[in-house]
Amino acid sequence: MKLVKHIANLGYGSRKQVQAMFREGRVTDAEGEVLYADDKVDHDAIRIDGEPLDPPPGLTLMLHKPAGYTCSTKDQGRLIYDLLPLRFRDRAPVLSTVGRLDRETSGLLLLTDDGVLLHKIISPKSKLPKVYEAELAQDLRGDETALFASGTLMLESEKTPLLPAELHVHDARHAQLVLHEGRYHQVRRMFAATGNHVASLHRSRIGGLGLDGLAEGQWRMLTATDLETLFAP
Ligand code: URA
Repeated sequence: MKLVKHIANLGYGSRKQVQAMFREGRVTDAEGEVLYADDKVDHDAIRIDGEPLDPPPGLTLMLHKPAGYTCSTKDQGRLIYDLLPLRFRDRAPVLSTVGRLDRETSGLLLLTDDGVLLHKIISPKSKLPKVYEAELAQDLRGDETALFASGTLMLESEKTPLLPAELHVHDARHAQLVLHEGRYHQVRRMFAATGNHVASLHRSRIGGLGLDGLAEGQWRMLTATDLETLFAP
């Protein structure tokens, strides 16, 4: 791929803007030699204003999403993309969230520009458990664990019952719920079906991957080992 296109695809600007960066001598190799748009250079050797380029396509990262941020590129209000480098919003292929968390849900969110990986993570075939910590507005009734495990719970306007899910009760108002599918607002709707209301919700784990000390609002790139951990819960 031509250098201009490669750099533009990483979100550094339109092709015109990137061409201007070349003319201004801002694109160099690791030794500071000015590069030209037609040069053939490896990604790792390119510098812009002396800085290495952002990662090439194949970027997958985890974000500790705080409550109050929307999983969208253009909604009003605070967006999860506000927590990432600005350029990440303009990359091609697009850096998308792997599924979504509601605006008021915090916790582990994955983003990737790898469509095959995205589908592998969300595919029911991968059977990746998703672990949620819920705080409830009212005391649990006592029958929720059996109901959620039954495989017969039907949510409003759904055509098929939910897959069995495991509820681990911590106390009357706190529980961990492990899901094996991802339906719209699933956790909130499951508790609503029992007459309760989720006061706060946090996703702590997807497959074998947890936040492992990543602070709220922080992100980090996933390594090949992280991806192995993800698929080997
Ligand atoms: N279930 C929900 O209700 N909300 C989320 O954000 C994720 C799962």
